[in-house]
Amino acid sequence: MNILMVASECVPYVKTGGLADVVGTLPRYLKKLGHDVRIILPKYHSIDGKLYNLETLPYQLQVRVGKETEFFRIKYCLSEDQIPVYFIENMRYFNRPGIYGIDGGDYSDNRERFIFFCRAVLEATKALMFRPDVIHCHDWQTALIPAYLKTVFRDDGFFWSTSTAFTIHNIAYQGQFGADTIEVGGFLWEDFTPAKLEFYNNLNFMKAALVLADGVSTVSPTYAQEIKEFNGKGLEMVLNSRTDEIFGILNGLDYDYWNPATDRNIAANYSPQDLNGKKICKMDLQNLCGFDVNDDAYLLGCVSRLDNQKGFDIILDAMYLLDDKNIQFVILGGGDPIIKRQLIEIKNTYPKNVAVFFDYNEPVAHKIYAGSDAYMMPSKFEPCGLSQMIALTYGAIPIVNRTGGLSDTIQSFNSETGEGNGFVFNITYGENFVETILKSAQVFNDRHQWAQLMTNAFNSKFTWDDSVEYYQEMYQYLISKKEYETVYR
Ligand code: ADP
Ligand code: GLC
Repeated sequence: MNILMVASECVPYVKTGGLADVVGTLPRYLKKLGHDVRIILPKYHSIDGKLYNLETLPYQLQVRVGKETEFFRIKYCLSEDQIPVYFIENMRYFNRPGIYGIDGGDYSDNRERFIFFCRAVLEATKALMFRPDVIHCHDWQTALIPAYLKTVFRDDGFFWSTSTAFTIHNIAYQGQFGADTIEVGGFLWEDFTPAKLEFYNNLNFMKAALVLADGVSTVSPTYAQEIKEFNGKGLEMVLNSRTDEIFGILNGLDYDYWNPATDRNIAANYSPQDLNGKKICKMDLQNLCGFDVNDDAYLLGCVSRLDNQKGFDIILDAMYLLDDKNIQFVILGGGDPIIKRQLIEIKNTYPKNVAVFFDYNEPVAHKIYAGSDAYMMPSKFEPCGLSQMIALTYGAIPIVNRTGGLSDTIQSFNSETGEGNGFVFNITYGENFVETILKSAQVFNDRHQWAQLMTNAFNSKFTWDDSVEYYQEMYQYLISKKEYETVYR
């Protein structure tokens, strides 16, 4: 199959969260199955053309955004996995410091930026003469591609055999804008209907993809269920209108990259068979944080976007309530300036127990996963979550709220049976994070039980080998559906 992956983030080029991990890893596994996979991304200012040897291809292309004509070029490189990666280069929209905005806010023209990107992707695909069997789009920034193919490009023969798959990584970000988006996007008003682009008199990018993509998936089975029932942020009815075609496919983790035995960002390497290095990593992290270097202190880490989704109100409360215990907290995050201020405040109050690091920082993230005893993830909702998978593989025991992908990956440790790979509490049932931390601290103080728990964590693997098969099945289903539709066109 010819598969085109379209997204706004992808490792190693640009990352703000797990979306980038998924888009950077899934193609490698599709390629292993024999498919011709290519990736297409915006060429943000932060992507270093020299570092990745980007080559400018000999096309000068243009699309309309509202009344403006926007010119763009295509840059290109082969990834480490030998996958072709294309970058859409346009000075007005992508040559600026942030990805979606700066200082935790969004750029005011994100609507135009991603309308431009979606249209440019389709023009670039034609220029490159790469005829995809499937265009796989991720999140709202790429959600207009399925919509264009069913409207403006409906009669374009180049795409007649092309199906679209749309993956929801986070339904909380939908890209909803006013009705005038029809004109900015170059759509026809006749397509501004509930069955296509209209959503309560607005144009909602994600809703458009949910009704117009040939297939829809999200990143864990439980989240697929939750968004249809109660967590769809207003899109429940839309999802229910095609309930049988919403696939829930759990993300995998790139275990080649996230591996404490080979990780170069950490103070010492280690493996489940030899944990000496983990002790050194804990000491190194305690030093970095300005904490007492003490193996008996219970060190809790967190690496996250600073966003209400991630339950920072719960983490902050816990830090205030647990200040007199032998517990150390370290948090790395970027995003919401209000959460950042609150974290600085608590760090200043308890400098010996709380450390905070800001902005995106890959090396510090690795040090936190490796040096922590346990990992805090009390998310209010979590489509999948990769951080808890990374924590498991570094032997940092996840403490999570029972929601979405966290329910699918973490089971509470049972000290009687010795089963379970973490600690799970349930906000909906009024269960308490602080009590769960205290319960986990008791297990931490029992070296024998903790060793069992760490073994269970190391044995919890979520590989792409399994998940890629489901994606392949989904693509095959979409292609056969398209063939059937073409026959009866
Ligand atoms: P989300 O995609 O909602 O942010 P995930 O758990 O799926 O949550 O993925 C988060 C990814 O981003 C993980 O790889 C995590 O290590 C990384 N990450 C998040 N914040 C930072 C940060 N400030 N610095 C470095 N890595 C980060
Ligand atoms: C989103 C979700 C996260 C998921 C990631 C990758 O950012 O918040 O739960 O793991 O996408 O799919």
